[in-house]
Amino acid sequence: MAEEFENPMQLQLSNELKDSFMKAYAQTKTGELEDDLDENTMILCENLVKIYRTKDTEVLALQGLELKINRGEFVALIGSSGSGKSTFLNMLGGLDRPSAGKLYVDGKDLFKLTDRQMVDYKQSTVGFVWQNNARNLFPYLTALQNVELPMRFLDGGKDAEKRALDLLNLVGMAHKKDSKLNQMSGGEQQRIAIAIALANRPKLLLADEPTGSVDQKTADVILDVFRYLNKELGITIVIVTHDINLAKKVSRVVMIRDGKTSSERIMKAEKKQELKGFMDEVEDSVASAEDTHDEYAILDRAGRIQIPRDMLDEIGVKSNRVRMSVEDGKIVICAEESQEEAKKEKHSDKDETKHDKKKK
Ligand SMILES: Nc1ncnc2c1ncn2[C@@H]1O[C@H](COP(=O)(O)OP(=O)(O)OP(=O)(O)O)[C@@H](O)[C@H]1O
Ligand SMILES: [Mg+2]
Repeated sequence: MAEEFENPMQLQLSNELKDSFMKAYAQTKTGELEDDLDENTMILCENLVKIYRTKDTEVLALQGLELKINRGEFVALIGSSGSGKSTFLNMLGGLDRPSAGKLYVDGKDLFKLTDRQMVDYKQSTVGFVWQNNARNLFPYLTALQNVELPMRFLDGGKDAEKRALDLLNLVGMAHKKDSKLNQMSGGEQQRIAIAIALANRPKLLLADEPTGSVDQKTADVILDVFRYLNKELGITIVIVTHDINLAKKVSRVVMIRDGKTSSERIMKAEKKQELKGFMDEVEDSVASAEDTHDEYAILDRAGRIQIPRDMLDEIGVKSNRVRMSVEDGKIVICAEESQEEAKKEKHSDKDETKHDKKKK
């Protein structure tokens, strides 16, 4: 669920606009649901694989990604360059087709959609914001015209001007409605891009490094817009980011490594409370990612798990073998070489307990 926050930018959501979103959301909620899907699931992917084939090479961009995202969640995807983040977002956005596995969005099986249905899906279910806003915007049109454009293409543009103005209000950019895009800052252009992505009332908003080309302060403002939309419209949001500061403010962070979901951090409730004032830079600088999130690893269907490198380093794993055992209902993994030490420790633990018992 979206956390509470104030609204220092005076973003406004008109009742009319909210109603129109709610109506659009209600339309496809029901219908036959397969497998592990329930009404609450927005995204379900199981063992998702994407192979890019070029003339003489094959790149395995996604290698069995597992992820479930519920309606109304706000998720940040992080991971190093080349880990498959954009590939995954492109699959979700219907810009490219996955090679194998399962992928459902909003109850639709993206493997089964025909090309025509895919066009429909792209127009009505998802909105996309790119890092490079040249891809989102027409520089020679005004902000208002840019937002109106997709409306005119899709539904004949009924009340387009009014709706576009409402959307500009929603992202706090109504005062720049007549400015041409090339007269705006990067952050302002990005907010217009968000308004455009919302033009067709998507249920899922995807953003690939939306703050990649702006400074930290502007990045915070853009994030605030996303949080406002998530809170007020209940729109599901998935953003890709390299910015760990940004990831800290999102309630769920999913790490992708080598085309697989490797770990997750879910924001602890008490930290959520502390981070309530989302412009609070002081809090930011002291809260490291470890302090603000619980870490979960993803266990795939075959029982495989990826352990973050920093954890392995911490326990001194240097080879590709580790020792595993079950102790007191917990799975314990330790470095091969620490085996003897672990034994010793276990013995001394036992001795201590014996000692304690004797005392009693
Ligand atoms: N169209 C394509 N054809 C061939 N290989 C591709 C294509 N798109 C991506 N790849 C490869 O797939 C892998 C994953 O790429 P992707 O763009 O998803 O990474 P990313 O996590 O978004 O990286 P970055 O943080 O640099 O944007 C990379 O090895 C990349 O070279
Ligand atoms: Mg990318």
